Amino acid sequence: ETPVVLVTGGAGYIGSHAVLALQDAGFPVVVFDNLSTGIRSAVPDGVPLIEGDIADTEHVAEVIRGFQVGAIMHFAGSIVVSESVEKPLKYYRNNTQNSLGLIETCVRLGVKHFIFSSTAAVYGEPEAYPIDEESPTRPINPYGQSKLMTEHMLRDASAAHGLNTGILRYFNVAGADPAGRAGQNTPAATHLIKVAVQAALGLRPAISVFGTDYDTPDGTCIRDYIHVSDLADAHVLALRHLVGKGGNLLVNCAYGRGFSVREVLKAVEKVIGRPLPVDDAPRRAGDPPALVAKADRIHGLLGWKPAHGSLEEMVETALAWERRSAEESKARRAS
Ligand code: UFG
Repeated sequence: ETPVVLVTGGAGYIGSHAVLALQDAGFPVVVFDNLSTGIRSAVPDGVPLIEGDIADTEHVAEVIRGFQVGAIMHFAGSIVVSESVEKPLKYYRNNTQNSLGLIETCVRLGVKHFIFSSTAAVYGEPEAYPIDEESPTRPINPYGQSKLMTEHMLRDASAAHGLNTGILRYFNVAGADPAGRAGQNTPAATHLIKVAVQAALGLRPAISVFGTDYDTPDGTCIRDYIHVSDLADAHVLALRHLVGKGGNLLVNCAYGRGFSVREVLKAVEKVIGRPLPVDDAPRRAGDPPALVAKADRIHGLLGWKPAHGSLEEMVETALAWERRSAEESKARRAS
């Protein structure tokens, strides 16, 4: 069985890499995206892009019927933690309510497999390290809460209606397609590696280190960075798992090792061969000192073999993408 896969948010950063991985693995793909943060050019030629909002469940239903969709990968959503504190209801609408509508539509139309983009933010401030999938889920912001509520809806819908579900909890996603076919386009991205390579290219005056007095070896926060292409492959494996075995899957997506902010900035400096303009700044509200996963389950259950896990490769691919995007927009301005 090779189901047609509907990818919501397929014009966004992680979604567009998942589309490439699905294509490489031979799955027919349809993208559904409202292009609020995603961009049209992120969808490869030959993949249908349906411009629409998942809040419009009739439109989604029409696409599911029209393309005989058998599986959903649901990336569409809002992802900025600080914004979720200021506009919580936007997060409950875009992430929780819209997911509810999508899950209902899948159940109603008999779509069998549902893979969901969840986040390490569901764990909140962990009490013990490393974080495994059974660690308590106590989100400390509406973003994490909005994703956790969707996890619960999926679990219950699965038990009652037999929907096969794959919940993937992403840690810190970084990098870009090594072949240069996709990357992180979001203009206002706040992610460390993205911001650091922008500073390296002179697209930002400097990079701030948010907090240098944490209880960590060098005083800066530690995160488990995962290359976006390895993450995309995990989605394909999760889909194969659901198609073959059915049931429910809940996995951390990470490598099980962390780097501090300073280590990341050092890696960027090494790749560009000169120092970065760095400012030390106060802590950013809501940042846990360390988020490092226990990643045994994803290896054991899915046979996942990450291939791009070095910090250098994450930085190099992010830098290559950023450089190309900057050159392209310069050329556009000049013409
Ligand atoms: N950081 C800086 N300077 C910057 C940007 C980030 O010092 O300019 C620091 C942050 O303070 C943090 C670390 O770099 O310590 C990583 O920050 P990111 O913003 O890249 O990522 P977060 O860990 O805050 O958040 C990410 C995702 C969320 C997800 C969360 C939990 O963006 O969606 O991981 O896994 F919820």
